[in-house]
Amino acid sequence: MNIRTALADRRLPRLELRMLLGHVMQCDFAWLVAHDLDTLDDTAAQRFDALVARRVAGEPVAYLIGEREFYGRRFSCAPVALIPRPETELVVEHALARLRDVAAPRILDVGTGTGCIAVTLALERADAQVIALDVSAPALELARSNALALGAANVQCLQSNWFSGLEAEATREASGFDLIVSNPPYIVPGDPHLTQGDLRHEPALALADAVDGLHSYRELARGAVRHLRPGGWLVVEHGFDQGDTVPAVFRGASLGSLTRHADLAGLPRVCCAQRVV
Ligand SMILES: C[S@@+](CC[C@H](N)C(=O)[O-])C[C@H]1O[C@@H](n2cnc3c(N)ncnc32)[C@H](O)[C@@H]1O
Repeated sequence: MNIRTALADRRLPRLELRMLLGHVMQCDFAWLVAHDLDTLDDTAAQRFDALVARRVAGEPVAYLIGEREFYGRRFSCAPVALIPRPETELVVEHALARLRDVAAPRILDVGTGTGCIAVTLALERADAQVIALDVSAPALELARSNALALGAANVQCLQSNWFSGLEAEATREASGFDLIVSNPPYIVPGDPHLTQGDLRHEPALALADAVDGLHSYRELARGAVRHLRPGGWLVVEHGFDQGDTVPAVFRGASLGSLTRHADLAGLPRVCCAQRVV
């Protein structure tokens, strides 16, 4: 089998075939195009066939190749953490905008997963100190290795159930954040999306909140009032159908200056709120 034949497999979109073959051959798309008549050796052909079969069976490409691009950087991915999504780049953009006039900002990322938000903010703002927390130890290990691989020395990883770990003596001085950012679990338990597509393979803990889809935002609002400095910002991602309910939760917790932002598909996706007192 040559590269052109391999990329003509009708079972998968061409882009996915290129990603899988690029992973097997350890080369980029341009190399595949330039060498499309090269023959795959037996080992490469077998590895490619195995990956295609797993993808056809539903495994996410990011888990098969072990990485996903986020904000122009490659993050290692594994089934212990959510795969970074393009919508989440909007959270980063609004977070950075809120920090424009803040020198040496202190940032907290709640539910860091791969660390894509925390590490990106740390690299975009080299003067920041970032705490990346997650309740999941394996996810936190992945975030730690992404921070290391991408050279984000200003990220500290902390295992914590919501904000509880911040109460510990060792991190008490880290309170008074300029920014708390989060893409928390927000899917309602039993939602049919949980049994479809990539979501079937992603950790349940990263997706559903076990209550009503708003539990995470109540925790975030409570934590923001306690851990943001006055004037500090809470910036969150939420579900496409939570454009009214999430701001209502934040308003109910006396957070102010609420703004709502749509993603590229025009769906409500990000909410920003400020601790006003
Ligand atoms: C939707 S994922 C987001 C991951 C990453 N921030 C991103 O945007 O790709 C939510 C994350 O919240 C974490 N999480 C769930 N419950 C938590 C809790 N009680 N305390 C802290 N983190 C929690 C999960 O382990 C998961 O990594």
